[in-house]
Amino acid sequence: MSDVIAIDGPAGSGKSTVARALAAALDWSFLDTGAMYRAVTAEVLRRHIDPADESAVARVAQDAHITTEPRVTIDGVDVEDVIRNEPVNVAVSTVAANPVVRRAMVTRQRRWAADQPRGTVVEGRDIATVVFPDATLKVFLTASLDERARRRGDEGVDSVARRDDADTGRIVSPLRRAEDAIAIDTTHRSVQQVVEEIVTCLKTPN
Ligand code: CDP
Repeated sequence: MSDVIAIDGPAGSGKSTVARALAAALDWSFLDTGAMYRAVTAEVLRRHIDPADESAVARVAQDAHITTEPRVTIDGVDVEDVIRNEPVNVAVSTVAANPVVRRAMVTRQRRWAADQPRGTVVEGRDIATVVFPDATLKVFLTASLDERARRRGDEGVDSVARRDDADTGRIVSPLRRAEDAIAIDTTHRSVQQVVEEIVTCLKTPN
């Protein structure tokens, strides 16, 4: 298995931006696992399935073919432009709490990483704790709720706080910092500063 940098953290903590910039700096591959849960949610909503209908949602996730780069697609349909809209924000934490959905996504995430010819930067909620417990480096990003809501713009502080609670409080793979993850508070730091800090950690033998 090639090197994996696992980046976890709550909404708006900077995961996607930092992970993407880090992957570019290292010339590694990048995977946004949140986009996968969002794509399943978009498809569930398109089919008018109740996000709480566990078995119907599970079937969507198990059968779906999902890509995240260069565009997010599910079963060949480009959902990039809808996956960060309000209806998906509202439903995604319910879909992501479904154990069958999680199993299906984790299998795909591991297979994707194994297929990469180089190192990977993978970001989400359970990457260091569940998906890649043996990752080369584990990073947990945080930021104040106000700052995270500001970064999220239209989503608003209430929706961000509600997703935080749902993701942290769920039974399967809750959002939490792995014991061996380095924690970085990004509230007053630029993307470049955070990327440099992670690269320094990567180069420092422990
Ligand atoms: O960009 P933001 O951090 O707001 O969210 P995201 O990374 O796109 O993830 C959207 C939602 O997917 C989260 O609120 C989680 O409910 C779920 N998720 C998850 O459960 N596990 C992951 N590895 C990634 C996302």
